[in-house]
Amino acid sequence: MTVTERKWWKDGVVYQIYPASFKDSNGDGIGDLNGIISELDYIRSIGVDTIWICPMYDSPQVDMGYDISDYENVYPPYGTVQDMERLIAETHARGMRIILDLVVNHTSDQHAWFQESRSSKTNPKRDWYIWRPARYVNGVRKPPNNWLGNFGGSVWQWDELTQEYYLHLFCPEQPDLNWENEETRKAIYKSAMEFWLERGVDGFRVDTVNMYSKGEMGDAPITDEGSEWQFAGFQYCNGPRMTEFLGEMNEILEKYDAMTVGECPHTPDPARVVKYVSAKEKQLNMVFQFDVVDIGQGPYKFQTTPRDYTLPQFKSAISRTQSIIHDTDAWTTVFLENHDQARSITRFGSDAPEHRIPSGKMLALMCCALSGTLFIYQGQELGMTNFPMEWDMSEYKDVDSTNYYKMVAARTNNSEEALKAAKASLQHLARDHARVPLSWSTGPYNGFSPADTKAQPWMRPLPDAEHCNAKQQQSDKASVLAFWKRMLQTRRDHNDLLVHGNYADLDPENKDLYIFSKTWRGQKAVAVCNFTDSAKALALPEAVANSKRELLVSSVDGCEEGKLAAYEGRIYLLA
Ligand code: NOJ
Repeated sequence: MTVTERKWWKDGVVYQIYPASFKDSNGDGIGDLNGIISELDYIRSIGVDTIWICPMYDSPQVDMGYDISDYENVYPPYGTVQDMERLIAETHARGMRIILDLVVNHTSDQHAWFQESRSSKTNPKRDWYIWRPARYVNGVRKPPNNWLGNFGGSVWQWDELTQEYYLHLFCPEQPDLNWENEETRKAIYKSAMEFWLERGVDGFRVDTVNMYSKGEMGDAPITDEGSEWQFAGFQYCNGPRMTEFLGEMNEILEKYDAMTVGECPHTPDPARVVKYVSAKEKQLNMVFQFDVVDIGQGPYKFQTTPRDYTLPQFKSAISRTQSIIHDTDAWTTVFLENHDQARSITRFGSDAPEHRIPSGKMLALMCCALSGTLFIYQGQELGMTNFPMEWDMSEYKDVDSTNYYKMVAARTNNSEEALKAAKASLQHLARDHARVPLSWSTGPYNGFSPADTKAQPWMRPLPDAEHCNAKQQQSDKASVLAFWKRMLQTRRDHNDLLVHGNYADLDPENKDLYIFSKTWRGQKAVAVCNFTDSAKALALPEAVANSKRELLVSSVDGCEEGKLAAYEGRIYLLA
């Protein structure tokens, strides 16, 4: 086993905050920085030690702040740079750390850099973005290649003024920066990174980090006959200059002892992942692999039916993320939710009223028993679930959801059946489910906005706050929140085994139970999770069945020796 250094961020537990939906302090229906500051004690009480703030920068909000128009300013409805300075100070005063989202693959089209770049072909910033002439096929103007964008359609946008296309891997309002240009990179480091590092932030979650170097921009192979635009993720991710670019960024980050966790989509090769996160490579500290959260998604994400996966597939995805730290100097992450994912209870447990709490606790136990830095998304600690099927399409605000629905309508000539299937899929997988206001109490707007406010929250609050809210759970020992607190304490008490231990799936083909072991220098633990809605015999594999075991924790009070309750999870210490 390779022994690696114990950096602070390895043992850390990160709590992710989505500013628009966390807490609205001033009654405009949008969460804000003062709202976050007012709940720092709550966050700390969960037992986490770092907060991650999703983009709070100035932005036209086409993609909820992932379209930044000014890295050095705050979106006014959220607050000001001074409020950010106070948030940083208040977080540090409570012994916690704070990381920000670093979104530098693209900017907003409203960013001053892009405004200059698009103004003329000879503007000094023209080359800061990726401009290309049109292709003409039989006299018809076509984009430079057939790449499909992450939110549908072509990745190229025609610009009338200068008669060229610019590249946008996401929305047309999110033009990609040209990382090939050294002057651009220097400006990015200064404005997006150093500005905030100087103000005391402790690191970054790095958005779409593996897309900076695009490589050859030839056509993608045809995988969708019915479309002009083809999946090109394997072409625009992990390009030839990634190592160099990340090395440059790391030189700056190291000066501040800042941590990084990068988003790493479309990277199935574990060796490539390890290269990003191996300590000696000096690139990133850790990445989010997409293996687990992509489970049950269709070839085009929503093109599927709910729960279209098996437990062995889910387990094998987790195993891939755990395995990258075996005998390497790399580090990994554990997460089931974030602002781009539907709620984990709905996807991997059950949101039926009788199973919501048990499956929320079981998933908490599972996460806390896995190795790597653990990330919890706001509301996950309360067991919040997806919003109901009955809500109509107007409640879906996210560009990814609305574009998909429009695309299905266009491609099927508004087929009722196809649109019904699209909505069922969105009800299961859309990003919107994570973005509703946090349920703080049973008060007006679920306590998200002040009671006397007139503005409706920007997204509709969940209808089940009566059964799931932070105020009630803080005094309820049987709540999902109380169990998360207990599990995070257990994780701290058994840090070597649970955070750093070697993982092994002991029964990969078992369709009902997830049984894995953790070992660390002679210590051994086994976690057993029942992923079904009925009781199951505790059938431990031979390798551990005959060892002497001591129950460390169960998600069910008064659990039965030889039997697991529906959605029960347990951890045993083995002698
Ligand atoms: C990943 C972010 O998490 C997502 O919310 C965003 O839409 C894209 N990157 C584009 O920045």
